[in-house]
Amino acid sequence: MRAHVRVLVPLLAVLALLAFAATSLLNRAARSWFERDVATRARLAVSGAREALASRLATEDRGRLGPLLDAIVRDEHILGAAACGPGGATLAQTRGLPASFACDAVLHRDGRHRRDFDFSDVVGERAVRVSVVPVRNEDEQAGSVVLVHDMSYAARREASMRRLTLAVFGIVAVLAAFLTVLSQRVSWRWWTHELRRVLILSTGARASRSSRGPFQPLLADVRRMASELVAEESRASGGPWSAARLQRMLQRSFVGEGVVVVANREPYLHQRRPDGGVEVMRPSSGLVTALEPVMRACSGTWIAHGSGSADRDTVDRNDHVTVPPGEDSYTLRRVWLSEDEERGYYYGLANEGLWPLCHAAHARPTFRASDWREYRRVNERFADAVCQEVSGPDPIVLVQDYHFALVPALIRARLPRANVITFWHIPWPTAEQLGTCPFAKELLTGLLGSSVLGFHTQLHCNNFLESVDRFLEARIDREGQAVVVGGRESLVRSYPISIDWPNRAAESAPPVEECRRSVLAELGLRPDALLGVGVDRLDYTKGIEERLLAVERLLERSPRLRGRFTFVQLAAPSRSLIERYRQLDQGVEALVARINGRFASGAWRPIALLRGNHAPEAVFRFLRAADVCYVSSLHDGMNLVAKEFVAARDDERGVLVLSRFTGAARELTEALIVNPYDLEEASAALATAVTMPAQEQEERMRAMRGHVAEFNVYRWAGRMLADAARVRQRGRLSDRLSMGPRSVESVEEVHG
Ligand code: G6P
Repeated sequence: MRAHVRVLVPLLAVLALLAFAATSLLNRAARSWFERDVATRARLAVSGAREALASRLATEDRGRLGPLLDAIVRDEHILGAAACGPGGATLAQTRGLPASFACDAVLHRDGRHRRDFDFSDVVGERAVRVSVVPVRNEDEQAGSVVLVHDMSYAARREASMRRLTLAVFGIVAVLAAFLTVLSQRVSWRWWTHELRRVLILSTGARASRSSRGPFQPLLADVRRMASELVAEESRASGGPWSAARLQRMLQRSFVGEGVVVVANREPYLHQRRPDGGVEVMRPSSGLVTALEPVMRACSGTWIAHGSGSADRDTVDRNDHVTVPPGEDSYTLRRVWLSEDEERGYYYGLANEGLWPLCHAAHARPTFRASDWREYRRVNERFADAVCQEVSGPDPIVLVQDYHFALVPALIRARLPRANVITFWHIPWPTAEQLGTCPFAKELLTGLLGSSVLGFHTQLHCNNFLESVDRFLEARIDREGQAVVVGGRESLVRSYPISIDWPNRAAESAPPVEECRRSVLAELGLRPDALLGVGVDRLDYTKGIEERLLAVERLLERSPRLRGRFTFVQLAAPSRSLIERYRQLDQGVEALVARINGRFASGAWRPIALLRGNHAPEAVFRFLRAADVCYVSSLHDGMNLVAKEFVAARDDERGVLVLSRFTGAARELTEALIVNPYDLEEASAALATAVTMPAQEQEERMRAMRGHVAEFNVYRWAGRMLADAARVRQRGRLSDRLSMGPRSVESVEEVHG
């Protein structure tokens, strides 16, 4: 609609201008035709009686001039006439002649006048045209005749001509508008049809067979080239990325070095049950989802805040516990935080300050000096823990997320040769936004202790480099994607995070049909129900309210889905000591109640809100049962739920509706990409999703699965480790070169 308005408004404005110009041009032309016509008629009228007029004017025969004039004004368009003697005196005039046009008013006092003296005037409200026609007797001028023409007929004709012109333009405008809308619709349909065809076909094997569509060969070629490149790289360096390949590259590049991960959230929590027993829980965290398989592959130590109620009871005297329970692949080292530390560092600076600072999701950051003190203290405590856990001078330390911005520099100060790889799991703000944080410089300096600093997207890298440029004295090497401070270099690159592939959770899940049957039964839905699913922590960045409103809009616009479509939202309570999170929790609850109240009928409710911390197995059951998964984040570094949905669908069914404000939208381009704020667009995408033909679902899902399989989390970790190995190698070479003549041998050793 807006597109039509954008085209129609200027078109109609141009037509209105043209109509205006055409009417005034036509008026002017018509007016001059009428005037010429009148002048000719006046001359003809006079010349018909010229001889009689000349002799009666010469003899000033007033009595016989009158009838002559009466005969002339018999023409209905002539109001009156006067016969003027050679000196300009009125010799005779008809009754209707207006006084202002008597001979003495029109002619010069000496009776001279110009030949064909014509002018326009107004009498009362009536337009008139006055002609003065000289009458000659042989060679002398005998006098003149003044004729006053009634021009109101011309005005009437002009008005009707104007009306006609405007009517013609009106019809043209309507036709043009109609044709414009029609042609736009036709061409839009053509485009969307073509684009759909190109995207669908180019994702599947059909692309190579088909030669239809103008972009198709190009897109298909690009995709083919991209996967050939990836395949080539895989062949050259040991096959597709997997846990085994990651282990091999770690062995090759960092002989004997164990990996130490520093992340606030622990991968396994021990919780005390009400009956006194202990249960193991998996937290809802994208970071944990991604990193846990990497740690299973690499082994080593994960240092995290011990936040489970039975965590202290399950560690040894070094605060270690081996995990995963029963598999014992790596060590979890727990760090204990006091209430004040947790409030200031985790709830305060990290989640009331940095989290809203980095997400454009309309929550104001709060920066308290006391929180900053705790943040610094806790960062120091984790850096201490790293130094306790490592065994050599150049360990591999993977620092995770916004909880530990100061840790890289703290480690660097104590272990100058450490390979510190930091990954920032959330967006990085613009330099301007970062400027609102009173601790911006310290955060940047802390992060630049890293050898490699990773973000999900190039945009976040660019924002980071701009921030360094704005707040620090540093050299930015844009080509080498690095920052150099004090002669030491940190690579700043994008490494889009992913999940494990083959995916453990998907592989151990029951068959899709079984998941669907059990989920529908659990929700009390009929077997042919259509099911939408959302999986999130209750966080204001996830767009949960917008998602529910889109479901409401879907039911408004598609009444036939009422009683048939149900959206189930798995919502894990999160950070609930923070006011903004409590508000969201209540807001979501109230919204669900309102929408359910509006549409519920019999036992059917459109929305099922399942709060709680759902284990990965439970989440996968829902993902496998769903017809559509809607990920509606308002701003998200990546969002791994989108990739998990893809991993869950080994049946190549189900449609992903994905917010364009997620990092995942840059990779999963076969999803239905939407603006979650635009409820019309989002609900239309949901409607498209639930009616999408099976073949199209398969083509889209197959393409997305192919992508996630290739760009899995082992590749993510492997690329960062490879870059860190290169940084280390460069550092060693330049150390040796600066050591003098012996250095040449050493360089040869390295190359040899
Ligand atoms: C985001 C952060 C993670 C965090 C997760 C869960 O994904 O990037 O670092 O673990 O949210 O939040 P929580 O505060 O419960 O750890």
